[in-house]
Amino acid sequence: MIPLLFQVLFIAGVEAASKPQMGWNSWNTFKAKINESLIKDTAAALVKLGLADAGYEYVMIDAGWQAHTRAENGQQQANVSTFPSGIKGVADHVHDLGLKLGIYSDSGIYDCDFHPGSWGYEELDAYTYASWGVDYLKYDNCGGFQAGTISSQERFQKMGQALKESGREIFYALCQWGHQFPWYWADQIADSYRMSGDIYASFASDKSGVCQTAYCLNTGYAGVSVLTMIRKMREISPFQKPGSWADMDMLEIGTNTMNEFEEQTHFSFWAALKSPLIIGADITNISESSLAILLNKEVIAISQDELGVAAAYIPDQSTEGSIQVWGGPLSHQYVVLVLNYGKETANVDLKLQNLPGLDQLCNSTDVKIRDVWGGKDLGKFTEDIHLEDVAVHQTKVLLISC
Ligand code: GAL
Repeated sequence: MIPLLFQVLFIAGVEAASKPQMGWNSWNTFKAKINESLIKDTAAALVKLGLADAGYEYVMIDAGWQAHTRAENGQQQANVSTFPSGIKGVADHVHDLGLKLGIYSDSGIYDCDFHPGSWGYEELDAYTYASWGVDYLKYDNCGGFQAGTISSQERFQKMGQALKESGREIFYALCQWGHQFPWYWADQIADSYRMSGDIYASFASDKSGVCQTAYCLNTGYAGVSVLTMIRKMREISPFQKPGSWADMDMLEIGTNTMNEFEEQTHFSFWAALKSPLIIGADITNISESSLAILLNKEVIAISQDELGVAAAYIPDQSTEGSIQVWGGPLSHQYVVLVLNYGKETANVDLKLQNLPGLDQLCNSTDVKIRDVWGGKDLGKFTEDIHLEDVAVHQTKVLLISC
């Protein structure tokens, strides 16, 4: 089925994702109502707004690009009325702008909206994506009895192998909603993996039925708030490592559903917990304040830091229900997140000696501290840090250096 040239061009493995991927995805705002112009306009906006330069390199077409049937030769095909240039035409356009193109398929017979999934067609589909110039595959978990009866590992591994043999380097992002706890096995298969059901554009309210911890199951369209997604990462963040990132789902920044502090909190946690940073808003119509958050260089640098270690929850500096403190090492600094998720403004005291791992970076506790969102250096500290007036839903991001 696959031309010999491509079989000969077998590449031994997709290069591991050394840093969490950054880009934009169509699903959160547009659902399946997508078309070629929308994708091209978004790619242009990524460049024009400076987002491409800041690192957002993947333009991802989620569900909704396909025709309802395969072509006569068995290949998946784009809906010709909404994607008249086909995916190859869109990929060429996106590449000309210096960006990369992502596409969506499903590990079942169908995707969630009954377009052809890739089950049984993995090699052909991987080859087709490679021939179109696709750089990224988001691979979902809906569709047909195979999704329920064949193990996730088997279904997702099949496509992973097919991509490796496709002749093109294609980033492989599992979207399997955290079922069967992929933080234990997805690193064998993929560059990133969704750790939960879908995010919901709300800071603190979940849709009904959403459970709070990592070890409980949510389905695809779950509706997990930003705060609950952060809660679930208490169990998962220690598993983060270069090569295979737990994906907290798309950013809801710019969807006009959160205030500035809430959007800062959202971005801070996605960055420090090493989630992929995938914008889900309509960036052709985004507020200056949301854009400034997405472009914050210091927070992006925390995400893309060489060390690849995620911040961890620090229970003995936190107060359940009001203050969460997370911290962890970067390659040359230490990052601390202090989130007020209580009901009133708070003052918070942090003890430097209780920040796990800080002593391995700095010999003494004589440290310098920078307030990232405040954009200012706070000076030198020896034992305690006293933070005044942390607003409701605000996160203070502190960078500690020796
Ligand atoms: C869900 C997935 C979403 C989106 C949607 C498309 O399963 O979690 O992110 O891709 O399918 O139908």
